[in-house]
Formats: sequence, C-alpha cells, structure tokens
Amino acid sequence: MAADLESGLLQSIDEAGSIQDTGAYAESHSVDHMALVGVMKSLLAAELILVEDIDHSRLALTEEARLYLEAGSPEAQVFNAIPESGISLADLKVKLDGTVGDVGFKQAMQQRWVAISKEGGAPLVMRKVPTIQDAVQTALVAVDRGQDTEVAAATVAALKKRKLLTTEAWKTYRLTKGIKFARQRVKEATDLTADMLAKGTWRDAPFKAYNFDALGLAPPSGHLHPLLKVRTAFRKIFVSMGFEEMPTNNYVESSFWNFDALFQPQQHPARDAHDTFFLTCPATTPCSSLPQDYLERVRETHQTGGWGSTGYGYAWQEAEAEKNLLRTHTTAVSSRMLYRLAQNGFRPAKYFSIDRVFRNEAVDRTHLAEFHQIEGVVAGVGLTLGDLIGTLTEFFARLGLPTLRFKPAYNPYTEPSMEIFSYSEQLGKWIEVGNSGMFRPEMLRPMGLPEDVNVIAWGLSLERPTMILYGIDNIRDLFGHKVALSMVKRNPLCRLGL
Ligand code: PHE
Repeated sequence: MAADLESGLLQSIDEAGSIQDTGAYAESHSVDHMALVGVMKSLLAAELILVEDIDHSRLALTEEARLYLEAGSPEAQVFNAIPESGISLADLKVKLDGTVGDVGFKQAMQQRWVAISKEGGAPLVMRKVPTIQDAVQTALVAVDRGQDTEVAAATVAALKKRKLLTTEAWKTYRLTKGIKFARQRVKEATDLTADMLAKGTWRDAPFKAYNFDALGLAPPSGHLHPLLKVRTAFRKIFVSMGFEEMPTNNYVESSFWNFDALFQPQQHPARDAHDTFFLTCPATTPCSSLPQDYLERVRETHQTGGWGSTGYGYAWQEAEAEKNLLRTHTTAVSSRMLYRLAQNGFRPAKYFSIDRVFRNEAVDRTHLAEFHQIEGVVAGVGLTLGDLIGTLTEFFARLGLPTLRFKPAYNPYTEPSMEIFSYSEQLGKWIEVGNSGMFRPEMLRPMGLPEDVNVIAWGLSLERPTMILYGIDNIRDLFGHKVALSMVKRNPLCRLGL
C-alpha cells in the first residue's frame, strides 16, 4: 500500500513537475492524507523530494453551536418562548434548559428584543419587538456549510467569544523534485557483499551513508547490581593500599570463631537469639575439631585472663562455643585469618573482606536481616592508635570522604574502639561511616601472635555507602525480593573517590 502510494507520488511529480497540494491529491486519489504524509516524510529524508508547507485554517462549530443549528440561538429561543401576555422569568427558565435560558435571556435583553415589565405587579418578561432576525443561527448555518466568507468578521469574533466558533488549523504540502529525485526509489546497499565484488556491481551501486550518530543495538548482557559495583570499587581501594582479600565463603560459623575467639563473653547479649540466627541442622561444630591448645588458651583467658587482664571470671562452656550460627560479622573471618597468621610464623599483613553477614533484626527502611560488611585488618609490630587513625584517614580519603571524626566506642574485642564519622557535603551533616579499634591482647595472645604485634581493624557496611551513592533511601529498594529489576539494569557505573 505504502509502496503503491510512493511510486504514485513519484510518478505524478515526474509527470507534472510537482504536486501542488497533497490535500487535493489525497482527495482525488482517495488516499488517507496521514498515510501520504508518512510516505512523503520518508521520501524527504531520502532527498527524493522537496516539501513546502501550505497552511490552512477554517472556522468550525463547537459542540454547543451544533445544538443551535436548527433550534436557533438561545436568544431566539427565549424570544419565541414568550407568549403575547408575557411570562415570569422563573417560568421562562422552566420552559428552556439551563444555559439556553440564562444566556438567551441576557442576549435577548442586550438585543432589546425583550424587556421586563412591572405593570401588572409581579415582573414579567415581555417581547419588545414584533419579529426578530436570528443572525447567530444564520452565521452558524453558513459556517456549517463551509461558507465562512459570508460571515462578517465582527460576527465571527463575537461568536468565538461566545465559544460557538473555533478556528481549525491544518497543513497540506507542495511537493517538488529533490536532489536525488528518481521515478523509482533505488534501494541503497548497506553492505559490500562478495557478490558485488565478484560481479563488479559495487562500482555503481549506491551505498547508504553511515549514520555515525546511531546509538546501535544494546548487546544482550547481564547487569551488575549496585552492591557489586560498589564492592568492586572498595576492592580496588584496598588492593591499591596493598591489602589481600580474605576467604569469606563460609556463611555458617561456629560460635567459637564468631564470638569466643574474639573474647566475647558467653553471656554477651549479642549472642542472644534476638541478634543471632543459630542453626538447627547441623546445630554444632564439635570443639574437638579445633586446635586443642588454642581452645584451652581461649578458655583460660575468658575465665581468668592473662596479659594484664583478669578475664571475665565465669566457667567457659564448650557447648556454647560449639553452636553453629550464620556469621554476625566478618570479624569471624578475621579471627580465623589472624590465628592462621600466628600459626604460620608471623609476618606483617594487611587483609580485607567484603561479604554477607546476618543479624536477626526487625526489618525497616534501613535494616535487613542480612547485609554486607567491609572489613580491613592490619597486623604489624608496634602499631598504635595513630596508625589506625592514619590508615582510616587514607582509606576514607580514597573513598572521597576526606574529613573524619572519631568517637570512643565499645566492642568486646577492641580497646580502644572508635566510631568513625564523616562530614557529608551531600547531606550537610556528620554521619557514622564505620566502627574500628585495636584488637585486644585477650584475643591476639591466645592465638600465638607475638607480644609486640598489634592489630588494627575497622568495619563498615556496603549498603550504606551504596544507598548514598545511588540515592536510594529504602534498603528494600536495593536488596531483597522487592527490588525492581529495572533498577538493576539502569544503575550507572560506580567510581569512588577522585
Ligand atoms: N565487627 C564490627 C561490627 O560488626 C566492626 C568492627 C570490625 C569493629 C573490626 C572493630 C574492628 O560492627
């Protein structure tokens, strides 16, 4: 259909030199003008034709005006509704429908076709002239017949004001030959083929110009979740600072590594079922599977202390240490790694991890029962709080957070402990960005780390910076079953720092 229309148009232009008006052409060839315009645009884009606009406008009746074509204008209807003896305004309005009565009465008064008479006591609407000429109806009928020119400009203006007439505008087009005019559109080749080369037709074949502005097709591919992108950015920072990644592929830990090895007393409220997901199957990791000398040193330190500590003074239970749980922090991984470091003969080390942890918390817009922790650990001889502050300052500066403040805090396994705050230009306030500290001797010495070795460490969540970076204010929009896949598809790349 479009192809017929196209060759018809090209033929007519070739024969007559032009198509003077596409409106007339569409009518005489009984084709839809819209369809013709579609073909015309494609011919114009291919430079086969040139196009000039022809503007048209005509008067048209509004819906209301159509009601008066036969019944007459409201003022005429009012005039006709008045009997010889007059009528009360109320009765008149009952006889005529709302707007007709209101508008008609006002107009008829203005025309001086009617008047109010108070002679008989109660006011009556009376005819004031014997007959009328309904010029409004005459004008509307003329417009309806397409005889716009018969209506005086002043009448048109008045009727437009009364919202009885409007102007409809539309365009048709004059078509002439373009620089690439041809009776038949030649299909331009998009590719050089073996056939063209063999036959030599490539010499004369018209080629379609390259469109270097085309965006191209998006290659089908998977999409990285924002948390993965931010994780990669954090990894790069750690690696650039010489940190090695710890193996975090065990969501299930025994309480021993998650709590006891970290000098966290067995009555500590964090172990309570409110914060920790304990496993029912398998419920335990037997303490017999642990290095027994280390186990005994942990027991003793909890019970009676050592290295200047008095311990907690309670009877440490293997049964409690054996309970399996979903790790509540990645510091469980750090404790395994530090033990291994001590056993393999200490050397200074910098470790990091970024992985999932689990806490039995009420879910709200900033908390889920599982989230990701980022953890950094530095073990070295004679490290001090100054080293911790310096390392944190460097780490957060590389993140793009150069201004930090520290606040004393408490963790069972670090002393001193500090919460880390950063001034957010974006939010205009200080926000907590992490927790940190120096691991206690009660944790490090039983592992077998030399007495002059100190370990500094810090932790933060991956979700918090991701939400700030991607402007997400409800964690459930970032992670979990309510996440919109479109968010995963469309989120931008993440580059931290400078
Ligand atoms: N494990 C701590 C937490 O869960 C973070 C932390 C890591 C604190 C290392 C001090 C040192 O919040």
